[in-house]
Amino acid sequence: MTRYMVTAALPYANGPIHIGHLAGCYLPADIFVRYMRLKGEDVLFICGSDEHGVPITIKAEEMKKTPQEIVDYYHDIMEKSFKAFGVNFDNFSKTSLPLHHKNAQEFFTILNEKKYISKKTEKQYYCEKCKRFLPDRYVEGVCPLCKSEGSRGDQCDACGKVMENVSLIDPKCKLCGSAPVIKDTEHFYLDLDKFQDKLKEYLTGKTWWKENVREYSLGWLKEGLRPRAITRDIDWGVKVPIEGYDGKVLYVWFDAPIGYISSTMEYFNRLNKKDEWKKWWTDPNTKLIHFLGKDNIVFHAVIWPAMLMGVGGYNLPYDIPANEYLNLEGKKLSTSRNWAVWLDDYLTRYKPDILRYALASTLPENKDTDFSWNDFQQRNNGELADIYGNFINRTIQFIIKYNDGKVSADPNLNEQDAEFLKLIENKIKIIGDSIESYSIRKASYEFMDIAREANKYFTVQEPWVLGKKDKDRLNTVLYVCMKAVTALACAGDPFIPFSSKELRDFLGIDKFKWDEIMKIEPSENISGKTLGILFSKIEDSVIEEEKKRLGKKMDAGQTEESAEISIDDFKKVALVVARVLKAEKVKGADKLLKLSLDLGGENREIVAGVALHYSPEDLENKKIVIVKNLKPAKLRGITSQGMLLAASNKDKTRVKILFPDESCEAGDTIG
Ligand code: MF3
Ligand code: ZN
Repeated sequence: MTRYMVTAALPYANGPIHIGHLAGCYLPADIFVRYMRLKGEDVLFICGSDEHGVPITIKAEEMKKTPQEIVDYYHDIMEKSFKAFGVNFDNFSKTSLPLHHKNAQEFFTILNEKKYISKKTEKQYYCEKCKRFLPDRYVEGVCPLCKSEGSRGDQCDACGKVMENVSLIDPKCKLCGSAPVIKDTEHFYLDLDKFQDKLKEYLTGKTWWKENVREYSLGWLKEGLRPRAITRDIDWGVKVPIEGYDGKVLYVWFDAPIGYISSTMEYFNRLNKKDEWKKWWTDPNTKLIHFLGKDNIVFHAVIWPAMLMGVGGYNLPYDIPANEYLNLEGKKLSTSRNWAVWLDDYLTRYKPDILRYALASTLPENKDTDFSWNDFQQRNNGELADIYGNFINRTIQFIIKYNDGKVSADPNLNEQDAEFLKLIENKIKIIGDSIESYSIRKASYEFMDIAREANKYFTVQEPWVLGKKDKDRLNTVLYVCMKAVTALACAGDPFIPFSSKELRDFLGIDKFKWDEIMKIEPSENISGKTLGILFSKIEDSVIEEEKKRLGKKMDAGQTEESAEISIDDFKKVALVVARVLKAEKVKGADKLLKLSLDLGGENREIVAGVALHYSPEDLENKKIVIVKNLKPAKLRGITSQGMLLAASNKDKTRVKILFPDESCEAGDTIG
């Protein structure tokens, strides 16, 4: 039987996940995997954080943290938000794990032994002020190809092209701003030229790939592949496994895809099935499918297959469904300008299903598309609430109110009913076929269309009229409506898994198979059960708030610091010194600590969001500063009577509590 090894591109652990990432690959991959599982296919869904590379060391330098601290921090945020968004990886690993370093070094060693790796001296930017080489993103300048500014040394964000070595116009060191010189440095190269013919044959044979992916990849071969540097002069990453090359690591794009294999191994090691990973990577019955965004195509369709061919024994990618870019409110996403919707932040305000559905409806499958908050509102209000929710709600309410909660087990279907049920069945088939061919947008449209058609059926059949004159017919109509509700509860699983599950729980449906959705018979009695509101309307004012958030720094301190206040305003804030009597973790909230405080004769409790940065022992008996007259707020059931003062950077990766001088005493006022 065919097995499906599905991967989603390993996200860099230098920031949280945003909608661009989701639309690029995580959502379509998850929808695909959920569907395949329901089809009964054998699927493994693997991901992890990509923890090496220059973007990470740059971030660490900016944050004055070690790279390991940065990647650990973002790995956790990403893992949690994926989970909360319903992206169900079987394993979400980390490329900084020793297991992965070993694998990457092994790949390098084998390729080297097989003479697919050569050594060359190359030119590299070097900053004399910082006394270091400036690989990739450590240097910025004007792109020699599209002439846009702020382009990086390896790949231009504006035109997406990978550029020649040291070819930037007017280059500048990103660390100190000075103009770098060009120096020689020795590097290892992967001899891609040796794979030219095999890659050509491989890619030409992939007739079922999306055209853009195949054409783009073949385009790379046109000019003839050349050896490509696979080492870098930095000290964060997988060490080159050859003596005498200290200070050099493997290029992140060399080790990252190997991370898929490492993540698979980690998964099976945990299950105590040490050798099981092999079946997923070497057995010809396994189809390897890589979901990713378009900037990752060449790495997965050309370089990675070359590496796999070189090492030998591995399956090559069977398919690479790559998406184009998602824009936001008509503009390119930009993380530095905060022109983005961050997943972890989104999830503090809305249900995951709304964004899942809104994105699924506008995925950039064949061309760049746009996400707008108005569209988000319309998808929620006009479709999830008004079409999907409305149909389910009116059906269930009607049965409970006017039919004692009873659903017939013995319907008398007429032609119209049978036709309508057939239509649903067809749509379910179309949804499946669409997902299998990665047309997720079409699939999600057809899913909503089931609800659209169901509303029509309900309206045309007029059950409110039937109630009085034809009980038998009424029972049949309600039965048919419940079949449609059931279909929505099951076929919605890939798109809106949380609401679908809630609905299935209400209906008493446990496990089901995709191909047997229409065989599920509605339960005969739904009285006494309650179903919460699946989707409620989102007000215009809420959407306006979201739009205002865009482009602003997330940190409240930064947005408000420009507004002047008077000394009287400031005097309203009662700042006092407090001594921490006791500190403890708050159950179920890994960011929070509960602090019992002595304010000099008065005791209080506050809840502070510092648990990721301080452990309880760090704080006990310490003196801190709190705002004493802050309106009390309830956090996780605990009333917090004040707020402690702490300094932090923009991303809150560095949080430092302000400790007053030891000679201050609890109760001292500040101002
Ligand atoms: N970290 C890369 C990115 O975000 C993707 C790496 S995919 C892998 O663009 F194949 F290398 F894992
Ligand atoms: Zn410099």
